[in-house]
Amino acid sequence: MHGIARHNRAPIRAKAPDVRGEKGPQLNEQTLSMRLERVAAHVPAGARLADIGSDHGYLPVALMRRGAITAAVAGEVALTPFRAAERTVHDNDLEQRISVRLANGLAAILPGDGITAISLCGMGGETIRDILESGKAYLSGQERLILQPNGGEQPLRLWLMENGYRILCEEVLRENRFDYEIIVAERAGPVIYTAEELYFGPLQMQARSPAFLVKWQRKLRQKQKTLSQFAGAQRAVPEEKVQDIARQVRWINQLLA
Ligand SMILES: C[S@@+](CC[C@H](N)C(=O)[O-])C[C@H]1O[C@@H](n2cnc3c(N)ncnc32)[C@H](O)[C@@H]1O
Repeated sequence: MHGIARHNRAPIRAKAPDVRGEKGPQLNEQTLSMRLERVAAHVPAGARLADIGSDHGYLPVALMRRGAITAAVAGEVALTPFRAAERTVHDNDLEQRISVRLANGLAAILPGDGITAISLCGMGGETIRDILESGKAYLSGQERLILQPNGGEQPLRLWLMENGYRILCEEVLRENRFDYEIIVAERAGPVIYTAEELYFGPLQMQARSPAFLVKWQRKLRQKQKTLSQFAGAQRAVPEEKVQDIARQVRWINQLLA
């Protein structure tokens, strides 16, 4: 495949900054952000990957350039990122291996694709959940899901549990002043997670990595500040809202105790 032979050439076009205005080295299909590198590490070798919400297409193109996957679909709902992904694939001569499709969510996946892994990264957890929910018909149940929500992890984990997905791996990482979570799941029959496990992540609660603990120390300070702002607010905050934050503070205090 001629695209593989040209792995080391320099990128031709000017590259757009990665999500959230990440600073530092120029990020592109050769130099992924640490966030996307960690996502890449969870894509099984030889996978047929559907990267939904691919934007510039850096993840599937980087993986293909490394010979780590055999085929990919880059799905985009918006025209500008769709065109950006087309350009990245074209610049790397990978049109024969990566299909770029303008489609809403999992509708980018066609029956003949034989997709074995799906990545949904850099979107809110609720958005990822909604894409999975409305795209259920496109899932065979055999795919590994590699999810990198920007917030909204709890509702996403709830969807996974309610749809028979077991969480196989989780990680927290910090890059450019943001905490990112990665959740890897496969459909493996019924599994029950407690409310706290859905909130913190069942595996992260056990592993208690330094990045995870620092994230929750930071969250605790934010939520305590919110509670004290509620207390001093001119207009009464609905009791339900106060109780919800107070419960989260209790859970985080128990976690960190
Ligand atoms: C912030 S970018 C993340 C890009 C890349 N996945 C990453 O993590 O660096 C989110 C992308 O998801 C796309 N997107 C949002 N909702 C989508 C949907 N329902 N279907 C396909 N793409 C979607 C947006 O157009 C945008 O390009």
